[in-house]
Amino acid sequence: MNDKHNDLRPDTLAIRAGGMRTSFNEHSEALFPTVSFVHESAEMAAKRFTGEEPGYIYSRFTNPTVDMFEQRLAAMEGGEACIATSTGMAAITNLAMSVCASGDHIVTSGSVFGSTLNVFGPIMGKFGVTHEVVNSTSLDDWQRAISAHPKTKLVFLESPSNPMAEVFDIAAIAAMCKKVGALFAVDNCFCTPVLQKPLALGADCIIHSASKHLDGQGRVMGGAIVGSKQLCKETVYNFLRTTGATLAPFNAWVLLKGLETLPIRMRAHSENGLALAHWLAAHPRVAKVNYPFLPSHSQHALAKRQQSGGGAVLSFEVRGDKRAAWQVIDHTKVMSITGNLGDVKTTITHPASTTHSRMTQAARDAAGIGESLIRVAVGLEDISDLQADLARGLDQL
Ligand SMILES: Cc1ncc(COP(=O)(O)O)c(C=O)c1O
Repeated sequence: MNDKHNDLRPDTLAIRAGGMRTSFNEHSEALFPTVSFVHESAEMAAKRFTGEEPGYIYSRFTNPTVDMFEQRLAAMEGGEACIATSTGMAAITNLAMSVCASGDHIVTSGSVFGSTLNVFGPIMGKFGVTHEVVNSTSLDDWQRAISAHPKTKLVFLESPSNPMAEVFDIAAIAAMCKKVGALFAVDNCFCTPVLQKPLALGADCIIHSASKHLDGQGRVMGGAIVGSKQLCKETVYNFLRTTGATLAPFNAWVLLKGLETLPIRMRAHSENGLALAHWLAAHPRVAKVNYPFLPSHSQHALAKRQQSGGGAVLSFEVRGDKRAAWQVIDHTKVMSITGNLGDVKTTITHPASTTHSRMTQAARDAAGIGESLIRVAVGLEDISDLQADLARGLDQL
């Protein structure tokens, strides 16, 4: 983190942290689309390669625009350091592969993005890493899973989760991880540092799919890991600089600009999210709404304690089957039928047949992702237009 900004407030950090100027004194952050950097002498090159002297070498390792993004996000999350990756899945895969070795064990929530489970299961399994999926928010279940294996190395969850909006007690699970020496990672995609600070609650590291709210307008892919200097700048960096899933400078530049408006966007997303959740909960053709800031949510009190807003993502079950869910989706005219989320444009999707379709039926059932479930990632359009968009399909059921 840039020490210069230690005393600044969150909204200011989003705009000012990690800013570096060239000798031209540009006001907006500079984009460095260069593969490599030139050294003044062979000796300087040698010293930079061994790390004896600081300096940029090659953009697979580091790049000034990527550096600025990393510093800004680390400051916003309250972490010592950040390492940026090409996508959110690259962040998750690189974390797991750089931290775990054969014989180690991963404990993961079942309520995570489908591909995350594929990384922890089939992919890490090929390298002798075992895993257990916890399909519960009960602290007893987490305690049992974390202490069940002598080599639990990594514990992973999303809070709120995708698409069920389950909320996990981050501080309590962090304490369990500390006791057994496991690294506790929280995917903070849905809340971002604006609404939730997992590191302050005791988590060891944070994962981001920057392709979501950090960009906020659905333009570029990106990912990040935020945590200690040791984790980000040594363990993960040494793996990533060799294996290569680094963030492109252009994407880092777009994300830097995205971070500047993140606080106001997240507050506006939360306002629209809560309004749509209340409206859906009152609709006769809706059986259930999952949104952390609805008083009916089973972990409402915990969500209010951990988060300063409910965020953009909600899911709801229509009264009916898959056909009914698809009918509601197909009658929308404003919302985009697409799997992405965290965009100013509202998106709508049927998780069971899209984002979570590669999970087994049993895993989907265990996570509660049924055929009548619809996920909406609420954008920043006028809330009345969004309600009218859903009413069109719902009123015909
Ligand atoms: C919560 C969450 N984490 C991680 C990812 C993976 O990110 P990416 O698509 O940038 O690889 C996603 C993707 O949709 C997600 O929703």
